[in-house]
Amino acid sequence: MDLLLFYLLFLLGVKGQVSSVCPHSCSCHQGHVNCSHKSLTSSMLPSHFPPGTTQLNLHNNLLTILPNGLLDDLPYLRSVTLHGNLWACDCGVLYLRAWLIHQPSSRLSSLNISCTSPPSLRGRLVLHLTEEEVLESCHYWYCDLALASQVCLFVFVLVQVLLLVAVIVFLRRFERLSREARRTTVATSAFGDSVMANEYEALKESRA
Ligand SMILES: *[C@@H]1O[C@H](CO)[C@@H](O)[C@H](O)[C@H]1NC(C)=O
Ligand SMILES: *[C@@H]1O[C@H](CO)[C@@H](O)[C@H](O)[C@H]1NC(C)=O
Repeated sequence: MDLLLFYLLFLLGVKGQVSSVCPHSCSCHQGHVNCSHKSLTSSMLPSHFPPGTTQLNLHNNLLTILPNGLLDDLPYLRSVTLHGNLWACDCGVLYLRAWLIHQPSSRLSSLNISCTSPPSLRGRLVLHLTEEEVLESCHYWYCDLALASQVCLFVFVLVQVLLLVAVIVFLRRFERLSREARRTTVATSAFGDSVMANEYEALKESRA
């Protein structure tokens, strides 16, 4: 009875592990993960391969970039095939290039990976690309964005300064006007007082 339960659990465990771990559209057999000839694009790649993968076939697909970190954390990996894809040699190739650079030279001989795009780098081996060549094709949209926001910020600050100057000039003028107005009022009322006083005097004299 115990043995039967153990066997069932074992079966479930193995089945569960295999089905959850072998990537969709690949075939797995004892550490050999075969995803070749499947018309896979980069977005169809799994986020990770089984940790026990020893052999990985990704050749003859439609891959343009290798997602960052995809081949990290595979300590038992002994061979990888990546040729026959549509590798785009722009910024996105940096991970693949770095991964290739860190491979032992014995493994590199089997890695025949060349660029499909851009046209200027077509047919070049990814391993032999210089960093400058790759970076030249990069579009740093976030740099443009940063520059645009800096320009906007500058314009806003300039407008603020102009408005502030306008406010100061207006306040100065208002102050001067109100000072003049106060002086005129005082003069007028003084004049009015004296007129009133004269009239009062005249009235008093006529009464007397
Ligand atoms: C890998 O899979 C492809 C496509 O299913 C098949 O043609 C090929 O023979 C397989 N390779 C190995 C080594 O099993
Ligand atoms: C490398 O790939 C090219 C085409 O992609 C092919 O013509 C060449 O024979 C391959 N070389 C090796 C050593 O696999």
